[in-house]
Amino acid sequence: MSSLPPRKIAVIGGDGIGPEVTREALRLLEVYQRRGLPLELWELDLGAERYLRDGTTFPRELAEQIRQECGAVLLGALGDPRVPGLEHARDILFGLRFGFDLYANVRPVRALADRLVPLKGRGARDVDLVVFRENTEGIYVGMGGQMRRGTPHEIAINEDVNTRLGVERIIVAAFEYARRHGKTKVTMADKSNAMRHAHELWLRVFDEVSRRYPEIRAQHVYVDALCLYLLQDPSQFEVIVTNNLFGDIVTDLGAGLQGGLGMAGSANLHVADPSRLGLFEPVHGSAPPLAGQGVANPFAALLTVGLLLEHLGFPGEERRIEAAVAAALEAGQCTRDVGGELGTEAATRAVLERLD
Ligand code: NAD
Ligand code: IPM
Ligand code: MN
Repeated sequence: MSSLPPRKIAVIGGDGIGPEVTREALRLLEVYQRRGLPLELWELDLGAERYLRDGTTFPRELAEQIRQECGAVLLGALGDPRVPGLEHARDILFGLRFGFDLYANVRPVRALADRLVPLKGRGARDVDLVVFRENTEGIYVGMGGQMRRGTPHEIAINEDVNTRLGVERIIVAAFEYARRHGKTKVTMADKSNAMRHAHELWLRVFDEVSRRYPEIRAQHVYVDALCLYLLQDPSQFEVIVTNNLFGDIVTDLGAGLQGGLGMAGSANLHVADPSRLGLFEPVHGSAPPLAGQGVANPFAALLTVGLLLEHLGFPGEERRIEAAVAAALEAGQCTRDVGGELGTEAATRAVLERLD
């Protein structure tokens, strides 16, 4: 029996619509506080604004304090056109994901209303899967470089780094999740037909690990075909496991099946030790064109709070929040990207009113 993580939550609104949707997530967390959940909220001043003011991105001492004191980090989004190189965003986001070794980016793809599913003849019941995206390796590690920059002979390289340990632990996480949730199939997506060396490792490890879960069907697909199948019939998938880059791309496609990025939440976890802190963020970015208008969809951030509460040891809250969001959608009490007319704050209120 493992111990639970601390109930202190570090909150980073970030940039663009990040602080707007995070404010709504905090409103929801405050409801839980009033209901007696022992949550402590700690708001951090990090993001483009801070970076432009004093050059701070993600100080090492702060990271250490978060590691020691917090059970979760709640993040809005990072990315601001005033910082074209995105150095603050990378320091903070990758500082959290890599720094805390949060190797599983768990992204549920679940549609909460029939009308949000854009596929002809398909409804919410056809879109219910979860993507396990490897979160500490792949091309995201930043290995590589540029040579002869700005000349016709320029070379630009990003290495795709895949370790035995890294590949195995994300595949195990996907199978463990499937077993715990009574799922019948795990699908692994790679590009081993083209990336012979790196992705042959995925094929081999997937085959090995799958033998430890004889009750679960193990399916291998190439990632390009996966994109096709997801559009043709998403109901055939239950758990998908893939690398960092493919997971990023496939989950935006997944968000499309859910009704857009405003509907997709995510958890970044060190699955092998649930007492370690987790990072919780909507799948969407800072959506600069929407920022400051009060129209951003807060539902992805609210659904993310559900994942966060599960991690902190409050089971059932993910489904409870999901049900309240579904009820608000059903009543048309939502933002315009999902067919309503409400602003960010009013859409949140519609959910809070429906939280049983
Ligand atoms: P984006 O997710 O910000 O926006 C993509 C599309 O989805 C846009 O049409 C946007 O209007 C819409 N959208 C996103 N969130 C929405 C919401 N809550 N409600 C309604 N509509 C929503 O992606 P982008 O435009 O490619 O990137 C913008 C910036 O965000 C970039 O700097 C990017 O690097 C960054 N980004 C950050 C994160 C993160 O911090 N986790 C994730 C993705 C992108
Ligand atoms: C995401 C984002 C990030 C990623 C960007 C901002 C680096 O797209 O969280 O999906 O690629 O992981
Ligand atoms: Mn992404």
